[in-house]
Order: sequence, then structure tokens, then C-alpha cells
Amino acid sequence: MRVKLCTLDQAPQPGKGAAVRSEDGRHWALFNVDGTFHLCEDRCPHMDCPIHDGIVHRGVVTCMWHQWQFDLATGECLLSEHIRLTKHPTSIDNGIIYANLP
Ligand code: FES
Repeated sequence: MRVKLCTLDQAPQPGKGAAVRSEDGRHWALFNVDGTFHLCEDRCPHMDCPIHDGIVHRGVVTCMWHQWQFDLATGECLLSEHIRLTKHPTSIDNGIIYANLP
């Protein structure tokens, strides 16, 4: 299922994350790593805080609450391979970013 997230103009700049609300009303964290977008549920696996405002550096986001770190390419937590962000692929069509959901 493909769900509209936002336009490219509304998307976060490289090295940043943003909270986005998809057209079906769900909340997501969208990150831009050197022009590649990474989408995940907007909650940290540790204590469910929003992850979109984490600090992004070299493809890793650091949660603002307790500094857990996640590889945005894989979603994997750097503390444990058994903890990960729930990621979904994105696609871009005609200037619009979509979430490709199961
Ligand atoms: S809620 Fe993210 S590290 Fe604790």
C-alpha cells in the first residue's frame, strides 16, 4: 500500500529528521541522509518517545531522551542488533514522497 507523506519541499534537509503525518493520519519520522530518505514509526524502541527530533550524524540518529543510537539504513540499534526502529521503504513520484507499507 502506498501512502502519501509530504512533498519534497516539505521534507527534511540532508542531515535532519522531521515529523510527518501521512494522508491516512499516522505519525512518522522521516530522515534525510545525504538525499536518501529513511522512514520509521515516530517512536523510540526504548521508551516510545518521538525519534524524529534526534540528532543525525553519519547516518545514525541519536535519541534525545537517553541517547540510544540507531543506524538509519538498517534501523538497528547500535547497543543491540535485537532492538531496531520499525522502518518502511519510501518512494518519490512527481515530487511527492510516499511510504510503501505492507
Ligand atoms: S526513549 Fe529513546 S533512548 Fe530512551
